[in-house]
Amino acid sequence: MRDFDEHNITDAVIASLAQTRDARLKTIMTSLVRHLHDFVRDVELSFEEWNRAIEFLTRTGQMCSDKRQEFILLSDTLGVSMLVDAINHRMPKGATETTVLGPFFVVSRPDEPLGADISRGIEGEPLLVEGSVSSPDRTPLEGATVDVWQADDDGYYDVQRPELQSSVLRARFRTDAGGRFFFKSIMPAFYPIPDDGPVGEMLGALGRHPNRPAHIHFMIAADGYETLITHIFNAESPYLDSDAVFGVKNSLIATFGKHAGAGSGRILTYHFGLKPLSRQTESYPAAREA
Ligand code: BEZ
Ligand code: FE
Repeated sequence: MRDFDEHNITDAVIASLAQTRDARLKTIMTSLVRHLHDFVRDVELSFEEWNRAIEFLTRTGQMCSDKRQEFILLSDTLGVSMLVDAINHRMPKGATETTVLGPFFVVSRPDEPLGADISRGIEGEPLLVEGSVSSPDRTPLEGATVDVWQADDDGYYDVQRPELQSSVLRARFRTDAGGRFFFKSIMPAFYPIPDDGPVGEMLGALGRHPNRPAHIHFMIAADGYETLITHIFNAESPYLDSDAVFGVKNSLIATFGKHAGAGSGRILTYHFGLKPLSRQTESYPAAREA
């Protein structure tokens, strides 16, 4: 085969995949080549633009380290992460919806008893979180692990504050016999995703802001159920309608009500439903480590 032009090169590349042994890989690569070529034809990509794209992706890779994953951030800000999440987490009635994991989950987090204060003394408006975990038919799940992590009053996670000696605003709890858990914290603030790299540049060029509405992350695991990765968003937060990573769902927005009890502050009450495991098991890498 030779003499390729803009009309016949796509079929030629697809034909070159004929010997691919892995059937799924063949399906994926065939579709990728078709869509990529259609995209290049659609916008009539110039050499200068092609160079710029290569340079952008190169810098995206160079920004990656064991602490920073710029490619996932690119996927998040282009809505790809939430699209993959939506396709892979079609939830039955009674199961809580999922959203992005984000870069601030860490595997080593302190185990805490129910009622612990995860703010560990840092300043902010006090918050009491009370939750429960059940199957979709509301059978309480005892002994489920509940990982929580959140930003502080200024919108920073502990891992973004090197001056901190130990982790704050993150912990792992276990549900009691009634499937319940509760802990003390402070109100999370909205915050920008890390925007000092190529992804931030891209957002700037597109006239987009980098902010995420205020939320608390939850990762909940129980035997026989899919690990749930989600957040609960504060109904009063700005950016609920323009989350930089497209992660907001109505069912995940909650009122952090005024709390009149000892010390006053806010209270969040939320019920989580877990989806029973099917043949296809949870495949999110971080969930496997949990
Ligand atoms: C987060 O919520 O922690 C997050 C999610 C996606 C990208 C950046 C941050
Ligand atoms: Fe977050």
